[in-house]
Amino acid sequence: MLKNIIVTGGAGFVGSNFVRYVINNHPEVNIIVLDKLTYAGNRANLVGLPQNRVRLVVGDICNKELVDKLVSKTDAVVHYAAESHNDNSLLNPDPFIQTNIVGTTVLINACRKYNVRYHHISTDEVYGDLPLRKDLPEHGKGKGEKFTSDSPYRPSSPYSSTKASSDLLVRAWIRSFGLRATISNCSNNYGPFQHIEKFIPRQITNILSGIRPKLYGTGKNVRDWIYTDDHSSAVWKILTEGKIGETYLIGSDGERDNKEVLELILRIMGKPSNAYDQVKDRPGHDLRYGIDATKLRKELGWRPKHTDFKLGLKSTINWYTEHENWWSAEKDIVESKYAKNGQ
Ligand code: NAD
Ligand code: DAU
Repeated sequence: MLKNIIVTGGAGFVGSNFVRYVINNHPEVNIIVLDKLTYAGNRANLVGLPQNRVRLVVGDICNKELVDKLVSKTDAVVHYAAESHNDNSLLNPDPFIQTNIVGTTVLINACRKYNVRYHHISTDEVYGDLPLRKDLPEHGKGKGEKFTSDSPYRPSSPYSSTKASSDLLVRAWIRSFGLRATISNCSNNYGPFQHIEKFIPRQITNILSGIRPKLYGTGKNVRDWIYTDDHSSAVWKILTEGKIGETYLIGSDGERDNKEVLELILRIMGKPSNAYDQVKDRPGHDLRYGIDATKLRKELGWRPKHTDFKLGLKSTINWYTEHENWWSAEKDIVESKYAKNGQ
């Protein structure tokens, strides 16, 4: 049974939601959050959690000595820490290579040394993109329509290629060194505590700040949205019941194009659904992601709970409305960076 776990990147969006999920649902578990507190990490994401069960260690996953010391005393490592934003990776890939590739190597070396259980958090983006549904040949239905754990690796951006590299390192450490590891590749998360550089929170906080939302290109690109708590329950399931060496895809059948999502946000917030600007598209912009989570559902019996997207979006909008203090200081910085880039 797992009693002490390390959650890297636990002060970021998805990691802090996982920490909260574990604390609320598994009273026997204590957590060390190892987080560098980059621009995306925030102590406030852990506020309200019991201090006797959650300890934040501010540090870099690339720091071998620190990682060795922490890993030597833990039952498991759940690795969320990453540079996570595609647009940033297009401006400067260097920190992505350092944290996502070098940092992962430091962690898996330490887990190998102390025979510690390791779970690797990855993304559906390692598989590249899919054609839009309307462009799929009728006979292709069911095959190649969605990503599975057998899909080939075809990453497009500096971000996704560093995540793909880290997945491959984990696979090699499992096979060559017997690392006790699992990997999960999840689709786009939404919910509270997501940095306002990302699509959904950027548009919500734009509207709250009197700025027109910004849609890249025509908005035809499709993302497969999952409420972040469902990602957390899936990761816990894999960590505790998953088969060592396996890769599980996490998704909850939430495919929607960006234009549709933006129009829904505008309608929920009482604005005309065309009150947005179309801006410069992202270079190399992946067209569509779609997850086939059959393996996770069938083999581990996982089910998502928050499958009503409109409801999830409403509660996310409420959260940003009620937590202006959490994001307002960052707003100008984020928007001026986008403006410089024509977005
Ligand atoms: P985020 O940017 O919100 O958080 C990343 C966290 O990692 C921050 O707290 C940051 O301070 C920390 N960090 C960065 N570099 C570090 C380093 N060198 N050492 C220690 N800590 C460091 O990212 P997120 O959206 O929460 O994503 C977390 C993980 O989940 C990533 O691995 C990402 O690839 C994966 N993921 C995210 C999504 C999504 O939709 N957000 C979907 C699938 C997978
Ligand atoms: O698929 C999982 C991935 O989802 C994670 O691995 C990444 O860490 C996470 O950031 C996310 O990547 P995306 O690039 O899909 O997310 P982002 O929120 O940046 O953009 C979502 C879509 O919205 C994408 O098609 C680009 C578009 N977009 C984004 C922004 C910021 C806009 O149209 N306007 C915007 O202002």
